[in-house]
Amino acid sequence: TGLVTLDTGFVNTASTQSSITYIDGDEGILRYRGYPIEQLAEASTFLEVAYLLIYGELPDAQRLTDFTAAIDRHRELDEGVKQLLATAPAGAHPMAVLQAAISALAAFHLDTLDPRDAEQRGQASIILLAKVPAIVAAVARHAAGEPVLDPDPSSDYVVDFLRMTFGQDDVDPDVVKAMDMLLILHADHEQNCSTSTVRMVGSAHASIYASVSAGVGALSGPLHGGANEAVLEMLADIQSSGGDASDFMTKVKNKEDGVRLMGFGHRVYKNYDPRAAIVKKAAHDVLDKLGKQDEMLDIAMGLEEIALQDEYFISRKLYPNVDFYTGLIYKAMGFPTTMFTPLFSLGRLPGWIAQFAEMITDPATKIGRPRQVYTGATERDYVAVAER
Ligand code: CMC
Repeated sequence: TGLVTLDTGFVNTASTQSSITYIDGDEGILRYRGYPIEQLAEASTFLEVAYLLIYGELPDAQRLTDFTAAIDRHRELDEGVKQLLATAPAGAHPMAVLQAAISALAAFHLDTLDPRDAEQRGQASIILLAKVPAIVAAVARHAAGEPVLDPDPSSDYVVDFLRMTFGQDDVDPDVVKAMDMLLILHADHEQNCSTSTVRMVGSAHASIYASVSAGVGALSGPLHGGANEAVLEMLADIQSSGGDASDFMTKVKNKEDGVRLMGFGHRVYKNYDPRAAIVKKAAHDVLDKLGKQDEMLDIAMGLEEIALQDEYFISRKLYPNVDFYTGLIYKAMGFPTTMFTPLFSLGRLPGWIAQFAEMITDPATKIGRPRQVYTGATERDYVAVAER
């Protein structure tokens, strides 16, 4: 069927048209539905941004109230989902448990599985937005060996998520504000690896639960969402070996054992990731407000300073990405390192949902089915095992 073009990693191939998120990687610009990320991070809330991404416009007060109420009605977890979460063995990575629980939602909401039915799809989207905070919090509690707390649907979405996670009723307003802002920053990022996965799975008309859980799987990888966890491990390693970053940077530049400066570089941004600029400032503010000085912040800034003046990084246009400073804020808030990528998942959820809806309602959508360039053996005859 004609010639195919090889584009490993889809470096030059657009998989879709989209009207959700705009990135100008050379200028370091990110907009959701036209709104600059800086304005949304400063002034909006996570649920408002979720509405914007999914429905295309900022909600008026009534629409926001209705949207929030619809979510609140579904915030409780099914007993079976709670039991499933409880079966995770100690030491399981929270991303593995989160992925399983999201996939399992399909087994508990049988009348929301047809993604082509707008009503079912809308309901499934609300169910996901409503239940994932409780699932993430339950995963965190299990991992910490603490009892799981039920949601309080009368309480604010982000406040309640923090209460369920940390088991404290008096949630610090500065922590709430920072959490809300970080969720906004992660809410969408056009056709990244996990979002493309969600679209690919959905293009086969699989349920939105199956598609989003596949997205969680993609996000768990250290080159994608897992980078936020990897950054903190990297900073901890540098700290425990005396805090000198230059040895580590030499390894990175020599590409020893494939070591990379985690939290640096991006397929699209060839300039400072605008989210990283916001997070860097917030890291200082939050650590100050919480009175938690962290030597790792100095190490991170030291690494950035070296990198931005070093020919290796300059010539490859490698700048800090969103994951470089987020972990330091999560740590100051009290999240263990393995919870960083589940937090990214919660943030990315509206983007996955919006992109799924755009994919399934676009008449131009076809099942995702890339071609290949075959490099294997030419035809040869089968040989019985005794004769091999
Ligand atoms: N440290 C050292 N060298 C790097 C890095 C890095 N973090 N990132 C890219 N390079 C080098 C790479 O070795 C290559 O060098 P050369 O031209 O000599 O072969 C060049 O820069 C281009 O890299 P690439 O791997 O072809 O670029 P890509 O677009 O395929 O990969 C990336 C993008 C984000 C996977 C990569 O930059 C990376 O691995 N970064 C570290 C992991 C990370 O922080 N990921 C988070 C991404 S942002 C948000 C998210 O998705 O979670």
